Amino acid sequence: KFYIMKKKTLPKSLDDWDIYSFHINSTVTSRYATTIITSRVANRMNESKEIEFHVKIPKNAFISKFKMMMDGQVYEGVVKTKEQAQVQYTEAVSRGQSAGIVSSVGRTMEEFKTSVTVAAHKKVTFELTYEELLKRTHGKYKLVSNCLFCCFHHQMDVHIREKVDISFVDVKGGLNTKALANAITKTHTNKQAWVYFHPTVDQQKTCDSCGEEGMNGDLVIVYDVNRENGLGDIMTSDGYFVHHFAPSDLPRIPKNVVFIIDQSGSMHGRKMAQTRTALVHILNDLAEDDFFGLISFDSAINYWKRELIQATGQNLEQAKQFVLNIRDRGATDINAAVLEGARMLNVHPREGSASILILLTDGDPTTGVTNINTIRSNVKQKIAGKYPLYCLGFGFDVNFEFLKKMSLENNGVARRIYEDSDADLQLKGFYDEVATPLLTDVTMIYVGGANLTQTNFSQYYNGSEIVVAGEIIDNNVEIFTSVGSLDTKGLLQRVWAYLKVKQLLEKELLLTGSEKNNAKKEALELSLKYSFVTPLTSMVVTKPEGENTEVLYKPKERGNLQPERSTKAHGRHNLIISAYPRLCPILILIS
Ligand SMILES: *[C@@H]1O[C@H](CO)[C@@H](O)[C@H](O)[C@H]1NC(C)=O
Ligand SMILES: *[C@@H]1O[C@H](CO)[C@@H](O)[C@H](O)[C@H]1NC(C)=O
Repeated sequence: KFYIMKKKTLPKSLDDWDIYSFHINSTVTSRYATTIITSRVANRMNESKEIEFHVKIPKNAFISKFKMMMDGQVYEGVVKTKEQAQVQYTEAVSRGQSAGIVSSVGRTMEEFKTSVTVAAHKKVTFELTYEELLKRTHGKYKLVSNCLFCCFHHQMDVHIREKVDISFVDVKGGLNTKALANAITKTHTNKQAWVYFHPTVDQQKTCDSCGEEGMNGDLVIVYDVNRENGLGDIMTSDGYFVHHFAPSDLPRIPKNVVFIIDQSGSMHGRKMAQTRTALVHILNDLAEDDFFGLISFDSAINYWKRELIQATGQNLEQAKQFVLNIRDRGATDINAAVLEGARMLNVHPREGSASILILLTDGDPTTGVTNINTIRSNVKQKIAGKYPLYCLGFGFDVNFEFLKKMSLENNGVARRIYEDSDADLQLKGFYDEVATPLLTDVTMIYVGGANLTQTNFSQYYNGSEIVVAGEIIDNNVEIFTSVGSLDTKGLLQRVWAYLKVKQLLEKELLLTGSEKNNAKKEALELSLKYSFVTPLTSMVVTKPEGENTEVLYKPKERGNLQPERSTKAHGRHNLIISAYPRLCPILILIS
């Protein structure tokens, strides 16, 4: 986690500066993770030294606190609007100081880096706090921490507390190797789990995945909870509630899925090969009562069949031949391809099924209709809220912002597929998330609740989870009585704020005019109130006299990736959940 930039080899810097302890402490309370990273560093030199603090944090997290403690003084970061932070930044720059925290974005993590000048023989403590709501995919929650070679006291402690029983806890990731096995301890009672990672210095140098710079990798803690109550669990405290809803005992809904595959020239080589591999695996997983369509496109559209076809063994074999023959060539006509995919679904209404449109592309529209606003409006009109559109952007040459908006306004999400050796697994992994629709058109209703986060979900898939939070306004009766006990003082309000900010930021993307400004304003106010470093705020870190003021921004990825959202669509299965006194939610299934 801590990293010395100047040296390519193992830090042999114990003689000049010495990280004498590095601690990652995560507390997960009902899937809301608060992580505090504390690093203590001493300057062993006779002269002052610049000491760096450099860590990776999950992209989905918001930094909420940063402190440096030195010589009895505490220098604390303050979250401000971007504009206010910019003023301080500009002032610092005009004083000849190079302000600004360099940060960048990787696949799942982004970086936080700062430094401070420490006087001879003095010590400094850095403390960074970030928060995230763990998202359930493929039937589990994942907490990812990055650990780098550092020091004598390297320690990671994770404590998971749930109101319901924990069904399993596993430790995965690049660092979960034989050489480090005895550095990891895992214990687990019904409702709590602890994972400790305390590697020795030797283990940090000689572990399986250690490179020249020693240990550098992720530890991933995965777990899930039991869901005895099909309606999920509601937690309440301090006038707020959070409802986790992830029923798994519902019958799967047969699906109609159309894959729209970019075969333009830029897909050449490995990307095209990985796409073919992933598609063959995906076809293998279709159920016999699913219907599917396959379109590959460049400047023209190539069909396997013009209409949806049932996923029988024989049809799948033929489809695989089609897939194996997809070759890259030509330009990218996204408009025609998506409209054609939507047409295929539109002419195939099927009682009691869920339809899904999946676009995979690696570039901008270059032929046919190329104006992205026209494409968005054409697609929105054609889909008309009937089913979700998922856009997979392969690599960094795509206009991801466009894909994101187009999916969000059609009840889907956009996902980046990173050009790497595992791209086929990323594609298949995404497909698996939406492979088993269990509900369509879900509306959650909370009697006595207000200021709710998103309550309409176009589809609910096996292995995922719907989370709704809100304020409890009706205090008289025991509305929202929750069973079990878990101390969540002040926490549920933060979960609510976290969800609210994430959803407002996505909503803001699609809105225009005063609605856009209102959504932005609300997201900003919440970010400031809860001290979240979001795309609308920055954290200003004032350092000791004579040193740079630094401004921390949430870094932007090229094409800017944001979390998922979906809204109401028209489906056959309407689900309404209401919370009434004493009962957890009531479920009414209308089909
Ligand atoms: C980890 O953080 C929690 C919450 O702040 C705290 O109660 C706990 O003592 C910390 N654990 C360690 C080992 O520092
Ligand atoms: C630090 O200062 C002491 C006393 O002045 C001296 O003996 C020592 O050699 C110095 N160490 C370094 C690394 O310069």
